[in-house]
Amino acid sequence: MSDAEIKLMIPGPVSVSPEVLQAMSQPVVPHYGDNFIHLYNETLDLLKLVFKTNQDMFLYVGSGTAGIDACVGSSLAAGDKIIVGSNGFFGDRLIWIAEGNGLVVVPVRSNLGSELDPANFLQAVQEHPDAKAIMVVHIETSTTIINPIAEIANIAREYDMLMIVDAVSSIGGVPFKFDEWGLDLVATSINKCLGAPPGLSPIAVSQRAWQSINALPPKNHGWYSDFRTWKKYATEWVDWHPTPVTMPVNNIAALNIALKQLMEEGIEHRYQRYRNLAIQLRQGLTSIGMFPMTPDHLLNPVLTAAFGPEGIPTSQIVKYLANKHKIIISGGLGDLKEKTFRIGHMSPVVNKEDIDLVIHALNQFPD
Ligand SMILES: Cc1ncc(COP(=O)(O)O)c(C=O)c1O
Repeated sequence: MSDAEIKLMIPGPVSVSPEVLQAMSQPVVPHYGDNFIHLYNETLDLLKLVFKTNQDMFLYVGSGTAGIDACVGSSLAAGDKIIVGSNGFFGDRLIWIAEGNGLVVVPVRSNLGSELDPANFLQAVQEHPDAKAIMVVHIETSTTIINPIAEIANIAREYDMLMIVDAVSSIGGVPFKFDEWGLDLVATSINKCLGAPPGLSPIAVSQRAWQSINALPPKNHGWYSDFRTWKKYATEWVDWHPTPVTMPVNNIAALNIALKQLMEEGIEHRYQRYRNLAIQLRQGLTSIGMFPMTPDHLLNPVLTAAFGPEGIPTSQIVKYLANKHKIIISGGLGDLKEKTFRIGHMSPVVNKEDIDLVIHALNQFPD
């Protein structure tokens, strides 16, 4: 099966539009000078519209995890305490990232398939007023749950803690309000709802976060992964070379086109279009007896998980769709391995016909 024939419906990376692909194949140009600065600044401005922020934005080179790791390492020092929410695989990963940075972690857990509960964070901050930060995943991609980050951020604000968010699978696909929600450090990745190929982690940093970052000892956490380095170049070399390292220029050109396409469609329209796909998919799954994992009020506009037929490991369904129908979906992750399958509809090029196709293919299983 050639890559061009497959229909990619996993929760990232996603299929990208032909115009975005074309930007990837343009001649390589330098990551400095007037043309690059124009592309870079325009891309940051477009990202600010999606994050809904007027604060600092960087295009960190690496996957989403690299961005989150840098948010943690840049703003906190080994030995600091952090409250970390987890209701699934990616929340657990945040705990590992915090521990890997030498932090003392206070976990706040909810069951798989339930939202994180702000009341539990209130209790945790009251028991640990010395914690410096709260960190949570926005969309827990393993279960599709959307966590109430605005409410949790309110608690962080009240108790003067930083609010760090893993928005890797949410930004560009569901409403996001960095400034209004009072967030401090947020990382996403470009290969999910933003509709570009993998390689960059856009990051927003609040003024409050800078106060913490700048108060840390100068040699705290590497150099590349210290946002002070990025800020220094964005300030001191702004007129010719605004980043500390060689940038993947084609990737930035591709992201730039993907963001312009998002603006052309309209952010609110995009959100609603994804939501409609989710509704269509949930109805289709229910009609063939493969029920969505979460109830309708927990609908996720960009990603749907469902249970397969009783007693059948879901990897068989994933393989069947790939081999017989050339549709690539994902299995369950972590404790949900072999129990659920997941269908991503977070690509700008996924449409109603694709949802019909996937339902049709699932309905044939296991012919
Ligand atoms: C919520 C969430 N966080 C982090 C990651 C890891 O992102 P990356 O593989 O880009 O490092 C993912 C990937 O699926 C994710 O869904």
